Amino acid sequence: MRAPNGCPVSDAAAAFDPFSDGYQQDPPEYVRWAREQEPVFYSPQLGYWVVTRFDDIKAIFRDNLTFSPSIALEKITPTGPEANAVLERYGFALNRTLVNEDEPAHMPRRRLLMEPFTPEHLRPHEPLVRQLAREYVDRFIDDGRADLVDQMLWEVPLTVALHFLGVPEEDMDTLRKYSIAHTVNTWGRPRPEEQVEVAHAVGNFWQFAGKVLDKMRQDPDAPGWMQYGIRKQREHPEIVTDSYLHSMMMAGIVAAHETTANATANAMKLLLQHPSAWRDICEDPALIPNAVEECLRHNGSVAAWRRLATRDVTIGGIDIPAGAKLLIVTSSANHDERHFADADLFDIRRDNASDHLTFGYGSHQCMGKNLARMEMQVFLEEFTRRLPHMRLAEQTFTYVPNTSFRGPEHLIVEWDPAQNPERRDASLRTAARAAVRIGEPSNHAITRPVVVQRIETVAQDIVRLRLVAPDGRPLPRWAPGSHIDVECGDTGLSRQYSLCGDPDDTGTLEIGVLRDPRSRGGSAWMHGQVKVGDRLHIRGPRNHFRLDEEARRLIFIAGGIGITPIMAMARRARALNIDYQLFYCGRSRGAMAFVDELAALHGDRLTLCVSSEGTRLDLPALLQKPVEGARVHACGPLRMLDALEAACAHWPEDSLRMEHFESMLGTLDPTREHAFEVELKDSGLTLPVRADQTLLAALRAANIDVQSDCEEGLCGSCEVRVISGDIDHRDMVLTRAEREAGQRMMSCCSRARGTKMVLEL
Ligand code: HEM
Ligand code: FES
Repeated sequence: MRAPNGCPVSDAAAAFDPFSDGYQQDPPEYVRWAREQEPVFYSPQLGYWVVTRFDDIKAIFRDNLTFSPSIALEKITPTGPEANAVLERYGFALNRTLVNEDEPAHMPRRRLLMEPFTPEHLRPHEPLVRQLAREYVDRFIDDGRADLVDQMLWEVPLTVALHFLGVPEEDMDTLRKYSIAHTVNTWGRPRPEEQVEVAHAVGNFWQFAGKVLDKMRQDPDAPGWMQYGIRKQREHPEIVTDSYLHSMMMAGIVAAHETTANATANAMKLLLQHPSAWRDICEDPALIPNAVEECLRHNGSVAAWRRLATRDVTIGGIDIPAGAKLLIVTSSANHDERHFADADLFDIRRDNASDHLTFGYGSHQCMGKNLARMEMQVFLEEFTRRLPHMRLAEQTFTYVPNTSFRGPEHLIVEWDPAQNPERRDASLRTAARAAVRIGEPSNHAITRPVVVQRIETVAQDIVRLRLVAPDGRPLPRWAPGSHIDVECGDTGLSRQYSLCGDPDDTGTLEIGVLRDPRSRGGSAWMHGQVKVGDRLHIRGPRNHFRLDEEARRLIFIAGGIGITPIMAMARRARALNIDYQLFYCGRSRGAMAFVDELAALHGDRLTLCVSSEGTRLDLPALLQKPVEGARVHACGPLRMLDALEAACAHWPEDSLRMEHFESMLGTLDPTREHAFEVELKDSGLTLPVRADQTLLAALRAANIDVQSDCEEGLCGSCEVRVISGDIDHRDMVLTRAEREAGQRMMSCCSRARGTKMVLEL
């Protein structure tokens, strides 16, 4: 058998059947073979080309001219003449909405209708979501058993969707009945005898949607996205057409409803199947937003999406002819090892979880993503607070067979109602514990608990803390130069400490803490309050200070407590057999931590420079002659680092790496800034960035997802790619050469030099 491009079809490709149980149960697993061996293949059973890797799929999403979305809502299984005749009788004319609209019609419409989806406009919907979630949980909380799909997750997102769209309450029940038929009609493979039945339901749905729309037109100032569209139609009838409004009235319900209902059911199933993750979010609801992203990545509710190749094109090295239909398996992209480390692992603290493609990407990316995220966060917060003792009942999960929309038809959970926390404390029913984060994928809230196992005084005013996981689970891996943020109890303060222990010991983390007399409270708290056995919350480890393991020679310079990261680095250099020298400067021996340990490990390679003994380090002399292939890594007081920078000025670019803990880079002085414009190539938008606003803030306000962590130019997580425009770099992440290349910038602090730049976003 041969594919349309003449290439032979492999046995695995010939056997690919997305309606089979294998795909329904676990799409990324079902196409693992493809992701690994044949990432783009032709499926003769489906008549589609199937694409399975992250980079290929993202590239397809980026280019919606070559890869038209026009077939996104086309019936994947063509219906027979009888069903078609039924649909015709109902005047069924579902046409282009947004998701299946080509350019140049699509972007003007999307831009015009976007505002109600921005974080600012979504916030007012949160109270309704909470209230509904609460009322539905009330109905079954004393039963000890519930089908979460039937008793809550199907109905609440539907009600939210209908409110968002602006549908009158009295029409909700009818619409609920029809929407499932629409899914089967579009993405499923109904048997011939079912097709007619489905066609009647879809026809009725279509007609009813028309009636609801007419009702809305009579009261166009009522709240709701459809009414917003009706109002916009008055100004731009050629952009917001009648056909669009009628089609969206029907398609919008499915877009907003089933996707979210399924996503929450998938998320709850996944979390309850991973009890330690469930326990973590029960204990710390601030983890919920990232857990939602990880659930959407690992087991999202849209498994695959579709595009049509408008010209001959090559994808992942395979020639695809014009007119080819593509099934892009986003759920497989989300499990691609090339993009997500340990991709099959379910890790609610994963840094790049929100990179998933479950919402698509680029100019058609899901407009409702932040409404869905809000709902999911609220549901998880309500469940974890009110039913933390919930568990999955024995059951077999079934799915409505279709290529795209995925979620278990039922999700049965059990618990002991006698243990309901609110029987002991009635205030728990309404006491939401965590704020919903709308459109803000920030790693900053991701903490983990640790227990203080040992505290040891290692020098005057310096203690070493040994931290372990409370349940003996391994702690995250880290590399020398990494630090953690420690939250100082409920003082609202947190402090960063470099890890000074041994990265191979995955059970413990060690930090050295200096009591700083000028401390704003953090180090005083660490010294005064923390006892052995205490539980602390930490963020990280994160690494902004990487050791160059390729260097031929390493010069380490530490001042005072700056020895902590350097100590881990020097140990690593020794293990790698790199030629190195370690200079450790301090006021007096008594104030210098770890001296004996360092001397025992590093022998002659260690030079102590002790002011009180008159052995100062002469930096200009040490660094007088640049050494080929050498790197200097340093950590210490600012004064020392400044002197070092001056002493290295004549060294080759990027020879010096320094640890910076705090910076003012994220703080803006609007009187000294200018406004500029950014054009987002992938999203088809142009945004203004005000003088008093960071680029990151402007992107978020426009619903563009960019991760962030430090928001002060230190960590690199908010990096965006620059296509053109002069960059005013202000971060501490990029090297001089990287800055000069002008292709990347940190959106939390860097800006445009001129008035405009173009980004790959
Ligand atoms: C588009 C998924 C919730 C409204 C899309 C697309 C996907 C998707 C895959 C196509 C993206 C592309 O072609 O690049 C999801 C998932 C959801 C969800 C997984 C829930 C977890 C919602 C909600 C709403 C919504 C709640 C509305 C209230 C839309 C709209 C589009 C869209 C209007 C079309 C955007 C365009 O083509 O310009 N969604 N969606 N979605 N979604 Fe969602
Ligand atoms: Fe850390 Fe921007 S968020 S560099």
